[in-house]
Amino acid sequence: MKTKILITGGAGYIGSHTVINLLKAGYEPIIVDNYCNSEEWILDQLHTLTGEKIKNYKADCNDIEKLDTIFKNEQFGGVIHFAALKAVGTSVLEPLNYYKNNIGSLLSIIELMAKHSVPNLVFSSSCTVYGEADYLPVNEQHPIKTAESPYGCTKQMCEQIINDCLKSNKLNSAVTLRYFNPVGAHPSGLIGELPLGTPNNLVPFITQTAAGIRSELTIFGNDYNTKDGTCVRDYIHVVDLAEAHVKALDYLGDNKPSVSLNIGTGRGSTVLETVKAFENVNNLKLNYKIGAKREGDIEQIYAETSLSEKTLNWKTKHSLEDAMRDAWNWQKYLGTK
Ligand code: NAD
Ligand code: UFG
Repeated sequence: MKTKILITGGAGYIGSHTVINLLKAGYEPIIVDNYCNSEEWILDQLHTLTGEKIKNYKADCNDIEKLDTIFKNEQFGGVIHFAALKAVGTSVLEPLNYYKNNIGSLLSIIELMAKHSVPNLVFSSSCTVYGEADYLPVNEQHPIKTAESPYGCTKQMCEQIINDCLKSNKLNSAVTLRYFNPVGAHPSGLIGELPLGTPNNLVPFITQTAAGIRSELTIFGNDYNTKDGTCVRDYIHVVDLAEAHVKALDYLGDNKPSVSLNIGTGRGSTVLETVKAFENVNNLKLNYKIGAKREGDIEQIYAETSLSEKTLNWKTKHSLEDAMRDAWNWQKYLGTK
């Protein structure tokens, strides 16, 4: 029998890609989502892509009674907890929502995992926990810095909660994945990121500008201490990121110790290099200008990946160009809907 894996936030950007890889690896993903930042037609897309109807429940992870019934019915072998609010700027304006949603949902998940003896948790964290890194590439031993935003703080608090619950045996085992910058889309162009309103993140802003939805991209600052003056990030293709979740479940299935891991490519790219990669691979010109620095932006960050590669027996396979091509395919597909 296939191991059932609860995928909270499974209709979202990273969750939907992970569902595909889990099916391929022989797991049975079961989605719980309240669609506060996704749309139900993504389930139809998953059906088209995989030929399988993915079992799903419309529920809020803070609704512990509803979730309790789902846990009772399904007998999960593990949980991947993606469900969270993720807009850094909005978290500053609405901190209560962010703390309630992101902390509350993790608490209910851990409580129900304990109650129903579900062993393995994979948690979505972020490189934001490192803040402005003291050294690069940043490794997992780097100190956790004071959070720049309530969103970042929820990730730090969730990591702390997971560690405390592991110590007290309220949680059997967990892998915390600290994502760097997820970009791109499924190569089919049928699923991808669905930003609500004006995107805050670079790549959806690029693709919407290329599609004519936005008139121009503003590059936030070009006098940083980097090779071309623009900020450096570690952009990881979402399909590579999805695969890391499968490997994390495999790892936990082998009763290995709980661990926190960087999930990036190990390569830093500037904003200008990213724009150029988009232009080159898609053979088009992007309308952009240099603007003021964005408050709170980190100058540069990229991952030391040796621990995650060794621990998970995993490596990224896709280039920045692949991600830029796939992100554009997805944007074009959205234009047809
Ligand atoms: P997303 O918004 O596309 O997906 C999150 C999904 O969770 C959405 O479908 C949303 O409807 C659902 N959701 C939110 N709160 C819920 C709740 N209380 N109950 C049920 N469903 C709920 O985001 P994503 O980019 O796929 O991110 C997934 C996870 O990865 C999040 O925890 C996010 O903080 C983390 N992360 C994302 C990035 C990034 O840049 N995308 C970077 C680092 C970490
Ligand atoms: N940028 C622009 N113009 C834009 C948008 C972004 O120049 O219109 C630049 C930013 O200044 C930054 C880079 O592009 O240098 C990447 O910015 P994003 O907003 O795409 O990503 P961030 O690295 O700022 O933050 C993202 C997520 C956070 C998460 C963090 C680490 O938004 O939630 O990655 O995972 F915490």
